[in-house]
Amino acid sequence: MLSRAPINEPPFRAAAVAPETFREACAQLASGVSIATVRDTAGNAHGMTISTFTPVSLDPPLVLICVDSRCALLPHFRGSSSFAVNLLEESQAELSVAFSVKPEHRFEGVEWTGGITGAPLITGAIASLECRRTSMQEAGDHWVIFGEVVNTRTAPGRPLVYFERGYRFLK
Ligand SMILES: Cc1cc2nc3c(=O)[nH]c(=O)nc-3n(C[C@H](O)[C@H](O)[C@H](O)COP(=O)(O)O)c2cc1C
Repeated sequence: MLSRAPINEPPFRAAAVAPETFREACAQLASGVSIATVRDTAGNAHGMTISTFTPVSLDPPLVLICVDSRCALLPHFRGSSSFAVNLLEESQAELSVAFSVKPEHRFEGVEWTGGITGAPLITGAIASLECRRTSMQEAGDHWVIFGEVVNTRTAPGRPLVYFERGYRFLK
């Protein structure tokens, strides 16, 4: 005979999960580290470290990134028709730090080239995906930015990993 487990009925109270408890759970997710890049209307290169790059669809090839609503780069993503995501190699932890904390001149001393869309592709990244921005969706305190991949480049190496609030290396 089938037993029927009791099912809790909504509404569940999201507010019951404290922000720190939520962060603690999310810290258990091992993710690759990327730098999302974009050009402003004057052509200047901007970039920020992200862990939220996610492939979404194969056909068409769609990806997403999540950007904090308070991020200074958000207007540049909004103002540009393209962006790129550069998946960092394990030797690029310093770049990850620079692109998350430096207030400006993040590209100083960084080797990069403009892709077919003009979006900055960082040398040494194990993969760079150039995207045409397709839509942006506000979700809580972040914006989800969707892009269709129009060009990719890969290079040998091992990924830089972020886990339990620290950089990790495979093997
Ligand atoms: C490993 C790591 C992953 C991050 N992932 C994200 C992310 O997915 N989305 C985001 O908005 N910020 C993320 N950040 C924080 C941003 O890099 C940082 O807030 C941003 O560069 C600040 O830019 P601004 O000073 O120009 O506003 C991450 C930082 C680190 C170190």
